[in-house]
Amino acid sequence: MQKLKKILYSALTFTFLFNLNIPLSAMEKEVKVYSGRHYNTDRGVYKKFAEETGIKVRLIEAAGISLIERLKREGKNSQADLILLVDAARITNAAKAGLLQSIESSSLENDVPNGLKDRGKEWYALTRRVRVMVANPKVVDLNKIKDYTDLADPSLKGKVCLRNRKSPYNQSLVANQIVNKGESETKAWLSGMISNVSQPFFPGDISIIRAVSKKKCGVGIVNHYYVARMLAGVNGRRDALYAKKTSVITPNPAHVNISAGGVAKYASNKKEAIKLLEYLASPQGSKGLAAPTFEHPLKEVNQNPIVKDFGEFTSDSVTVEDLGNYNSLAIKMMKDSGWD
Ligand SMILES: [Fe+2]
Repeated sequence: MQKLKKILYSALTFTFLFNLNIPLSAMEKEVKVYSGRHYNTDRGVYKKFAEETGIKVRLIEAAGISLIERLKREGKNSQADLILLVDAARITNAAKAGLLQSIESSSLENDVPNGLKDRGKEWYALTRRVRVMVANPKVVDLNKIKDYTDLADPSLKGKVCLRNRKSPYNQSLVANQIVNKGESETKAWLSGMISNVSQPFFPGDISIIRAVSKKKCGVGIVNHYYVARMLAGVNGRRDALYAKKTSVITPNPAHVNISAGGVAKYASNKKEAIKLLEYLASPQGSKGLAAPTFEHPLKEVNQNPIVKDFGEFTSDSVTVEDLGNYNSLAIKMMKDSGWD
């Protein structure tokens, strides 16, 4: 009898605990992130956020453009709470396509500098990247190349390597030049630079660094962190050796691009999404994202000696919104100039 009681009692306890567990798991907070940031090291930052807040981060990664297409297709059925994208044109296009929603957050307003956030409060920058030039001193005279516009100089005929027109990084650079220098100067720059290009146009920034190193051309335009990653050996020993043969030229002022985030229009975990966005834009979060990827946090410069070696940079005054507004004109002018 005593034994039966004991069995009954433990069965009851089990049922009670089991039932208790159901509402608990349903209450578990989470945030679903669609990320176009393709860096494994971001996971460490999400983990820290989860530890500090108890909010689980579920990550859905995809390349930038297909991510936007996917969100458009999914519409109201989308699972996305927070959307992270690289490049100014991509995040502004996401806002224009109605994929994001306006949010109120004083901490985001404080942590994200002017020019790096949306006036409509739909997106905020998280990290910064500088579009630099990478050159081979054995092929070109480094002293003669200070700015992107110098790549139009006739002395560089056949010595310029460029990534193809589809790259939003280059679209944003051209948009930046339109704002900075006006349409006709940009047109002249494009036609001079494109006539100097050593064909074909490249699929990515890394292949440009390799081509410059191998003297296939003398100078190209890339994001600074690609050179840093190669130098640090992230892509293996061979790429490190390639990168070592090149020099980085940082224009002054420089075109600075961003990675950014915004809360999805149909987020079902809006509160949690805002919390994560606030965390990622905070000094600690931004540094957590930027330090291991060799990007720059929002308010400071990456302290890694490899990045510091590229020299200080001064950002020009073109806002991310401007880059988005001039994106279609930039693409048209690139096409017209023969940028493939
Ligand atoms: Fe990139």
